[in-house]
Amino acid sequence: MAVLVTGGAGYIGSVTVEMLREQGKQAIVLDNLVYGHKQALFEGTPFYEGHIGDAELVKHIVLEHDIKACIHFAAFAYVGESVEKPSLYYENNVAQGIRLLDALVASNVKQIVFSSTCATYGEPQRSPLDENHPQQPTNPYGASKLFMERIMKDYDQAYGLRFVALRYFNAAGATPTCGEDHAPETHLIPLVLLVAQGKRSNISVFGKDYPTHDGTCVRDYIHVTDLASAHLAALGYLERGGASMAFNLGNGQGYSVLDVIETAREVTGRKIEVRVEARRAGDPSHLVADATRAREILGWQPRYPSLKEIIGTAWKWQEAHPDGYRES
Ligand SMILES: NC(=O)c1ccc[n+]([C@@H]2O[C@H](COP(=O)([O-])OP(=O)(O)OC[C@H]3O[C@@H](n4cnc5c(N)ncnc54)[C@H](O)[C@@H]3O)[C@@H](O)[C@H]2O)c1
Repeated sequence: MAVLVTGGAGYIGSVTVEMLREQGKQAIVLDNLVYGHKQALFEGTPFYEGHIGDAELVKHIVLEHDIKACIHFAAFAYVGESVEKPSLYYENNVAQGIRLLDALVASNVKQIVFSSTCATYGEPQRSPLDENHPQQPTNPYGASKLFMERIMKDYDQAYGLRFVALRYFNAAGATPTCGEDHAPETHLIPLVLLVAQGKRSNISVFGKDYPTHDGTCVRDYIHVTDLASAHLAALGYLERGGASMAFNLGNGQGYSVLDVIETAREVTGRKIEVRVEARRAGDPSHLVADATRAREILGWQPRYPSLKEIIGTAWKWQEAHPDGYRES
């Protein structure tokens, strides 16, 4: 079965393509390379450089490769930028997203696995968060993902499109071949490892007065291969006729910013200097997933519950690729 992977040259997309290939499934990648890397593509995996909003291109790809399902990663994902430039985010993530859905439905591709996010929940009212928690995003990025979830619900009712929305918490880690190389980088683990590498002088910690065990924000880190395996499980679920549904993806365990830094010191054996700064607006103190539903319904079993192992795989990749994909 051929699967269209939008955003397959990006971080989570490339790891998922790698896993699809390992499991003998044919992946076809569509990415405009705005943030993706040519070096993250795999030889033998067909690649189309283009926008998800290019309906003619999408229809052509579906026809050419007999696509049966789509894993839709492609999106812009910088929260701060989305606040400054909401138009960019709604155009890229929603307007182009609708054109993608329309092209897929017109081509009779009606199974979609969608990259959603815990940012659709907004300020948590309880922890851990289950899928029934109210969705009140506090920024245009989170809102753009929630709009896509709502649009797909309506498309299900009207056109029979079935979807799985996977609400990721914090993706982290690497495989030996694929790693995290965002530019600009905003994610904590790669930033901390850049300090360990000597490429940055210190790591900023935004706020030390949150109601957590050490005063810094607590997040749920999930290994990128565990995310990839959830996508494959979701494809299987849709293939078996599963109904449209949303699933949280996280380990269910929270680590503070200082826990991450301390673990990175242990893993790397390097000094990592911390700079405490003022709180940032809109950072909740805790964001931890209740992923029971994914375990029970998708049969998903994360393999990397340990933060040390997650950071260990990221460090291995960063050591092997000191300049990210530019060197490989
Ligand atoms: N990284 C995380 O922790 C995290 C957490 C929650 C949700 N997500 C979501 O997961 C998805 C993948 O995240 P990532 O970290 O791999 O990001 P990424 O930026 O590495 O990958 C996204 C890819 O999509 C491509 N892209 C963007 N807009 C496009 C368009 N209009 N047409 C074609 N290609 C386009 C980019 O070039 C890039 O290769 C995103 O949808 C993101 O919102 C990520």
